[in-house]
Amino acid sequence: MEKKNRLILALDVTDREHALRIANEVSDYVDSIKVGYPLVLGEGLGIVKELVEIAPVIADFKVADIPNTDRLICEHVFNAGAAGIITHGFTGRDSLDSCVKVANDFGTDVYVVTEMSHPGGVEFFRPVAEDIAKMAVEAGASGVVAPATRPERVKDIRKIIGEELSIISPGVGAQGGSAADVIRAGADWVIVGRSIYNSDSPAEVAKKICDEMNC
Ligand code: XMP
Repeated sequence: MEKKNRLILALDVTDREHALRIANEVSDYVDSIKVGYPLVLGEGLGIVKELVEIAPVIADFKVADIPNTDRLICEHVFNAGAAGIITHGFTGRDSLDSCVKVANDFGTDVYVVTEMSHPGGVEFFRPVAEDIAKMAVEAGASGVVAPATRPERVKDIRKIIGEELSIISPGVGAQGGSAADVIRAGADWVIVGRSIYNSDSPAEVAKKICDEMNC
């Protein structure tokens, strides 16, 4: 992903017209659009084909299955035009390898969840987050997902993954995280959803977040 705006839009609206309107309004300020179950279950995977005309798409399906099923999911997502996918790591190295292999075949990116951004994200993830980050490096993933709600954890995870892998970081705005703080802690991109798409002026909010990050 080209690092220009450092902002990824989390497009968790559930209908096509709304999604395309928001995506078009903020397109000057985002490097990528993240879509997940809310939009794809609402509109089908075809929405990805429309959104890639506006910006590169990351599919947030938090893939977490056996290697063969992961492979099938990744193939569908990349055939639909997504430039990247978010996977879990707790399913183990063979499952992650399967995703990375498909991504390498398509020339796309895999981002692995380390510790999640919501309060419950510490319950089970905290003790394994650093091992998952190490595995992401060893498996040749493009990057990891780490919480903007805990910049100190982003710092810890950056130390583990070095400079080669990217950190994409959700939790800014509605979940309380600060874009500037998490970029300072070592994130490459922030992921922002509700603060932008629930606003009366999505482009103004997106611009403000970019300005906070000096991009
Ligand atoms: P909001 O509305 O809170 O949206 O700005 C955040 C977006 O990011 C997703 N999310 C996560 N994805 N690991 C992930 O892979 C996380 O820790 C995490 N926390 C939030 C969320 O589903 C929404 O799309």
